[in-house]
Amino acid sequence: MTQDELKQAVARAALDYVPSAGVIGVGTGSTANYFIDELGKIKHRIDGAVASSEATAARLRGHGVEVVDLNNVNELAVYVDGADEITEHLHMIKGGGGALTREKIVAACSRQFICVADDSKLVGMLGRFPLPVEVIPMARSYAARELVKLGGQPVLRQGVTTDNGNIILDVHQLHILNPVELEEKINQITGVVTNGLFAARPADVLLLGADQGVKTFT
Ligand code: A5P
Repeated sequence: MTQDELKQAVARAALDYVPSAGVIGVGTGSTANYFIDELGKIKHRIDGAVASSEATAARLRGHGVEVVDLNNVNELAVYVDGADEITEHLHMIKGGGGALTREKIVAACSRQFICVADDSKLVGMLGRFPLPVEVIPMARSYAARELVKLGGQPVLRQGVTTDNGNIILDVHQLHILNPVELEEKINQITGVVTNGLFAARPADVLLLGADQGVKTFT
């Protein structure tokens, strides 16, 4: 199967986790896009969706799914999103698409995080994929210096402004032995909005697409 077929297969499998009423959270990226395409086919089952980016909101609307403001919902039953890397402990690196902050907010409001990914995303240790860090623009140089002190090599993502008006530093060369600790440390740097480690709040379920079929990790 091609990588796109694997992504489609996990997107279809994620429909089993969509409740028969209420509002769900929807992530950003190519795998999340396949999920949105599947969701469009069963849109009458839900009352709407909270989007983790403007791009996702536009795609949801394109399929006739009502996009709901997170401030008008109490709790979401599920959040479905992809990952750039994920371990068997369901710790993730996210933010390759630049939507990490809104993704983290929607994940925080969700009872269940369903991660959908093809098997190229499963890793033994996080960090080969450069860790995205969203930073307030005036703190760019300061935050970069602090990230170097943590052993990383930050690189400014050129030409990118996030949906929140900020910049992204992609941090290379991190060997992430303790993702929960590093997530907290980076978030304490003044000027950092958030970083792409999703470890303090990991996924609850991983649907991993492989040639043998969709594997479920919990
Ligand atoms: C978006 O900011 C990211 O967190 C995505 O969820 C992640 O990059 C996975 O994207 P793909 O499904 O396109 O690989």
